[in-house]
Amino acid sequence: MMFLRAAVCLTLFSLSACAGSTAKDSDNKAPEPKVSELSLALSTAAKDPATVTAGAEVFRRACESCHGTKGDGEIGPDLTDSEWDHGGQPEQIYKVIDGGLQDQGMPAFGRALGPEKVKQVTAFVLTLSAPKAP
Ligand code: HEC
Repeated sequence: MMFLRAAVCLTLFSLSACAGSTAKDSDNKAPEPKVSELSLALSTAAKDPATVTAGAEVFRRACESCHGTKGDGEIGPDLTDSEWDHGGQPEQIYKVIDGGLQDQGMPAFGRALGPEKVKQVTAFVLTLSAPKAP
């Protein structure tokens, strides 16, 4: 019993220590400790012209009405700057598109689009905020 309590305390302690050190504006989602496999795959996809073109087409149909024709914001926020309210890691962007933001006006697209199109449109969104070559 004592052991159990100690274990729980330890867990709670490390959780709060963790939350303290990563306190940022990313709500309750702690940033990924390191770049995940999915983030890597998405970054690679964002460099593939065919994927990005497919993603742009998805964007035009599904996202433009809220995020603007250039993705620079209308009802939904500007996606062309490097400010992210819900995390700028490729995986975090994917998850917002996939699962939506409940009660915040951002619909979930995972079911409607399927993983491949969500990946494509994430790749496209990544190119919007990517630093432009001089
Ligand atoms: C019905 C309007 C609407 C549509 C359609 C829509 N969005 Fe959004 N989106 C929003 C709103 C509103 C937010 C901001 C939610 C908040 O933070 O309060 C948002 C947030 C986001 C974010 C997070 C931005 C950040 O700063 O972290 C991403 C990424 C995003 N949308 C991508 C997309 C993509 C890609 C599509 C198309 C597949 C799409 N959205 C379609 C309304 C929309």
